[in-house]
Amino acid sequence: MKNRKIGIIGTGNVGATLAFTLAIKNICSTILLKDIRDDLSQAMALDISQATHALKLATKIIAIKDNKDFHDCDIVVITAGIARKPGMSRDDLLFTNAKIMKNVVEDIIQHNPTAILIIVSNHLDVMVYQALKVSNLSNNRVIGMAGILDSARMSHFIEEKLSYGIGEIDAQVMGGHGNDMVPLTSLSKVKDKNLQEVLNDKDIDEIVNKTKHAGAQIVELLGTGSAYFAPASSTAIIIDAILNDKKEIHPCAVMLSGEYGFNDIVAGVPVILGKNGVEGIIELNLDESQKFDFMNSVATVRNLIETLNSNN
Ligand code: NAI
Ligand code: 2OP
Repeated sequence: MKNRKIGIIGTGNVGATLAFTLAIKNICSTILLKDIRDDLSQAMALDISQATHALKLATKIIAIKDNKDFHDCDIVVITAGIARKPGMSRDDLLFTNAKIMKNVVEDIIQHNPTAILIIVSNHLDVMVYQALKVSNLSNNRVIGMAGILDSARMSHFIEEKLSYGIGEIDAQVMGGHGNDMVPLTSLSKVKDKNLQEVLNDKDIDEIVNKTKHAGAQIVELLGTGSAYFAPASSTAIIIDAILNDKKEIHPCAVMLSGEYGFNDIVAGVPVILGKNGVEGIIELNLDESQKFDFMNSVATVRNLIETLNSNN
């Protein structure tokens, strides 16, 4: 797509993979890369740009040194921060990443007060909350990526169990991006069949458990950081829906203002994504147990925000 500019701050595993994914999808004219390590963003810009030349693609990839160059970006994605290593939970990233988020958002917003921000850094829901408070942007312009990833992971585990269904599974996860995320088994489908029609309760419980710990599984196996291909692909889906005004429904972490009975808290819920960012929040008909799990998940995020605020 012509004249569309995406900024990515933090060009480590997720940021760089996202830049490459966007270039392959050919949905923007320019991608600006910034990292606290200039050498890294320069290396990534050179390597990805050279890949686009090999593939005869049109997107320009440029490393920048100053956030002021983000001034005319339609969307700025923030993946800056530290990632989990074995033995670390997302909670362990809280203080370091909150500080980075505050500094980064304050600076970006000075130069681009109307950007849409997509937040990836963990602890995800708290970082979205932090970015909203620091930026003063309207709620529709700050979006956290997690639900698309968690749903894709659930979909993977469903297919693994069934041995069929690639591309035909619609798994749904809502809530916070933590161990108490809420996989919605009764609302997940394989083609036109409910999950309960194709799997027994024991298998479904196993899928739920694996989904909740899918991020940690990759952290343990990788040993040096956390997942990045699926996170980058999931972020690219949000960007595509916004740039192309698709009005698609995807689960994202957004500020709730009365939806599901909650106020002033960020949680993963299905939203309509279009050119204005979040163009609507879908309120699903949850059963009592799903409502209870969602409430617990929201309470965890609220506790983390309180912990953060009480230490500032
Ligand atoms: P990484 O360590 O590979 O990359 C992070 C980059 O941020 C590094 O290159 C680092 O130099 C840079 N950085 C740190 N402070 C900065 C600053 N002030 N300004 C600019 N750049 C800065 O980590 P990775 O794997 O790319 O993950 C990034 C973040 O995303 C982590 O917090 C991770 O936990 C989170 N994550 C979230 C997911 C989600 O579902 N929301 C999924 C995967 C990762
Ligand atoms: C993940 O879920 C660590 O949040 C990151 O892979």
